[in-house]
Amino acid sequence: MEKKEMLYEGKAKKVFATDQEGQYLVQYKDDATAFNGQKKGQIEDKGIINNKLSVLFFKELEKAGVPTHFIELLSDREMLVKKLKMLPLEVVVRNIAAGSLAKRLGTEEGVVLARPVVELYYKDDALGDPFVNESHALAMGWATAEELKEVQALGLKVNEVLQKIMDQAGILVVDFKLEFGLADGKIVLGDEISPDTCRFWDKETKEKLDKDRFRRDLGKVEEAYVEVYRRVKEILA
Ligand code: C5P
Repeated sequence: MEKKEMLYEGKAKKVFATDQEGQYLVQYKDDATAFNGQKKGQIEDKGIINNKLSVLFFKELEKAGVPTHFIELLSDREMLVKKLKMLPLEVVVRNIAAGSLAKRLGTEEGVVLARPVVELYYKDDALGDPFVNESHALAMGWATAEELKEVQALGLKVNEVLQKIMDQAGILVVDFKLEFGLADGKIVLGDEISPDTCRFWDKETKEKLDKDRFRRDLGKVEEAYVEVYRRVKEILA
């Protein structure tokens, strides 16, 4: 496999073409952004941890019947993935109130939800990724009814798989964000699953082990990413 030209540079990753039909190379960066890019920084070795942690999760999800874009781990910061036609949506699944849900509904952070909540956001930096519903997604042609049903069902399935792994690692899965795309007409999970895109709290102490440490200047950011990786590796590797 040959790495070719860079196709896209996002906030946390670069995507490169390859000489393989339908396959892209994703390279994870240490750059961190928050609040729609207003806060910028670096988290040392975050790219390595997010790449390797995503691989561990993707492999487990595939075993559980969730199709993912992951093909092969190439290096510390690089993975080979299936090319997807991305839906312009972020699918957020929540088990415990935090972040924008706590703010929007006026609940305290940490309130355990009676059942998981699945939310949709329209992926658009200029608009700040607004909260939308299925009706918006259908009316705007962002996805079909079948695709929406599928991404929501897969979101809940991912939640089950992640909760099972993280429970063994002594970590609460508070919430997380997924992105899906289409390959050969089939819905496939793309992007990453990492402390950048999930809220993980220590089960005992409720200490935050995710990007909120960067967003809220809580310190020990690198340490939190390393700790999550260490605990998950112990369970899965
Ligand atoms: O900010 P909010 O509470 O809506 O975030 C919910 C979850 O989705 C968090 O785990 C957060 O890290 C993730 N998220 C993300 N990318 C975004 C927005 C949220 O990974 N653009």
